[in-house]
Amino acid sequence: MSRARLAAMASTLAIVAALSGCGVSTPKSDMPPLPASASAAVTYERDIHSFAQPQVARVKHVDLDLVADFATRTLSGTATLDVTGEPGATQVILDARNLDIRSVADAGGKALTFTLGDEDPIRGQALSVTLPAFEAGTIQKIVVTYSTRPDAAALQWLTPAQTAGGRQPFLFSQGQAILTRTWVPTQDSPGIRQTWSATITVPEALKAVMSAEMLTPDGEAAGEGTHSYRFRMTNPVPPYLIALAVGDLAFAPVGDGVGVWTEPGRLEAARTEFSEMRQLVDAAETLYGPYRWGRYDLLILPPSFPFGGMENPRLTFATPTVIAGDKSLVSLVAHELAHSWSGNLVTNATWADIWLNEGTTTYFENRIMEAVYGRDRALMLQVLGWNDLQASLADMPALDTRLHVDLENRDPDEGLNDIPYEKGAAFLRTIERIVGRERFDAWLKGYFERNAFRPMTAAGFLVDIRANLVGPDDAALERQLQLDNWVYQPGLPSNAVAPVSTALTAVDTAANGFFVSKGPASAIPWARWSTQERQHFLAWRPEGAAAARDWLTPQQLADLETTLNLRAEGNAEVLFQWLQIAVAHRYQPAVPTLERFLTSQGRRKFVLPLFTSLWAEGDWGRPIATRIYAQTRPGYHPVTTGSVDDVVGVPGA
Ligand code: BES
Ligand code: ZN
Repeated sequence: MSRARLAAMASTLAIVAALSGCGVSTPKSDMPPLPASASAAVTYERDIHSFAQPQVARVKHVDLDLVADFATRTLSGTATLDVTGEPGATQVILDARNLDIRSVADAGGKALTFTLGDEDPIRGQALSVTLPAFEAGTIQKIVVTYSTRPDAAALQWLTPAQTAGGRQPFLFSQGQAILTRTWVPTQDSPGIRQTWSATITVPEALKAVMSAEMLTPDGEAAGEGTHSYRFRMTNPVPPYLIALAVGDLAFAPVGDGVGVWTEPGRLEAARTEFSEMRQLVDAAETLYGPYRWGRYDLLILPPSFPFGGMENPRLTFATPTVIAGDKSLVSLVAHELAHSWSGNLVTNATWADIWLNEGTTTYFENRIMEAVYGRDRALMLQVLGWNDLQASLADMPALDTRLHVDLENRDPDEGLNDIPYEKGAAFLRTIERIVGRERFDAWLKGYFERNAFRPMTAAGFLVDIRANLVGPDDAALERQLQLDNWVYQPGLPSNAVAPVSTALTAVDTAANGFFVSKGPASAIPWARWSTQERQHFLAWRPEGAAAARDWLTPQQLADLETTLNLRAEGNAEVLFQWLQIAVAHRYQPAVPTLERFLTSQGRRKFVLPLFTSLWAEGDWGRPIATRIYAQTRPGYHPVTTGSVDDVVGVPGA
């Protein structure tokens, strides 16, 4: 690409980004002055998963005033939106799905005309509101009065029995990717950042927390038997990062500006497990610049939380399965923390580029782990990820192994696999290896600064890296990096290098002894191994795994299960690996352990593959799957049931 064209693209990008509504601006000497009436210059990447037309009218701020009613399992109240529009525009389009909209009014209470469009199975409905013509530079407020439905996909309403304490109900939300529209009527696109505030009224016995600054830590008296909590997020964020949890919650500080929230019965375990959170934040800041969100807290949810973790700003949401008792799974916190830069500061403009969030974060996560726990541990994690990537590359349709994916007519969930995470991370490691760590780190830190509070596309990423790392004159480096190949072509480019961990090479030797040479399980140095070594051992598969069946005899399975004490395994990652082996062998003695695992947590990453494997085992596995799912389905989050239903079907339906 010519130097002139590169420069032109870079400056367009700078203008677009500078106008995209952030409170923080990064001065750049060569940036052209902004035109006085600049709004026309703002371009938005087309987001096929949103009905919004932000180039016509866009939401700048959301103010929620909602009551959580556990009896009806609804949130109801108002969303007051600050909207700006092109001069003359008379309509703003919001995203809504499965919402009961009562009315839409202006700030003075005067009704505004609105329509709800046809229901799209993935996107939901366009909520179009007609308002007086916009004048340049003005804001109009619209007040949407509404209720959520009991089956809102973002929300899970838990009975007391589904919590650790067993005495109070619980509610939490999960917005990513396009679920926020099932509880907040707004423009639900990652490219449309909004500041927000909220007042949440809950039963007196419960506390509300959100991914925002908590203005009333103790709540304020509200109506009969209730109290309210107020929150404020002054950084503009994409709506998928608006998050709420309500329950019997307690807090313990872990260090300066960091702490854990969870149910009182788990608080001490959580505080101990994550006692190194402050070191993680320090390491992250040392690597790539200041943490821009104030506090960093962790909320450990009840076991049905469908993800490992979710990077809600200021308050990462996480599964209780990360409390392993030995801090062995803290890389998950490093990951969600890293998103405070990669994802929450610089955000994928559309879900086709989720690799920009997840790949950059997986790279950054590993750098935090290296800084805090050393190179050996970081390398082990890299190898585990690389091996998952190889399995995915072998399994997936080639076109879906591109970093920039085509999600036309697809749920963004379909792009959620090892490719954005592990191919994305491998891409950044490749660049780091070629240009050297020092130069790479300087670029990545600058990338976060230059693009803070802005959406990013694959094309924009390439413009930034060419402008600020590669330079237009270094044709040799440009060729060596294969940037476009990495982003737009399937598979792995030829400059990808497999990570090597000497610890895991030793595990391979032990695995050969057991799996190939058929040695006894007592020869496995299990007790000396870390969680990562154990995971790696149990992830061993024969060559040509797709075709191979029953690589272990019933005697070997029994030997493993007994010698490694797998029935009592408490580490969810290790247990998951064992159960995958057990199911693939139709190993009946492990079924009670499997049933316990599927009953005790609802993390989709564990639950979906196990049900899928059971289903693949036909006559043996399907009745087991159906029986267990009939019991566990009512306790799973809609994110998990939505996926498992497609495999097992809805029991009794
Ligand atoms: N942001 C993701 C979770 C997510 C992605 C939810 C896309 C919905 C749509 C989060 O940061 C994540 O990657 N979680 C992982 C854990 C991580 C350590 C790889 C998970 O939940 O397993
Ligand atoms: Zn992530």
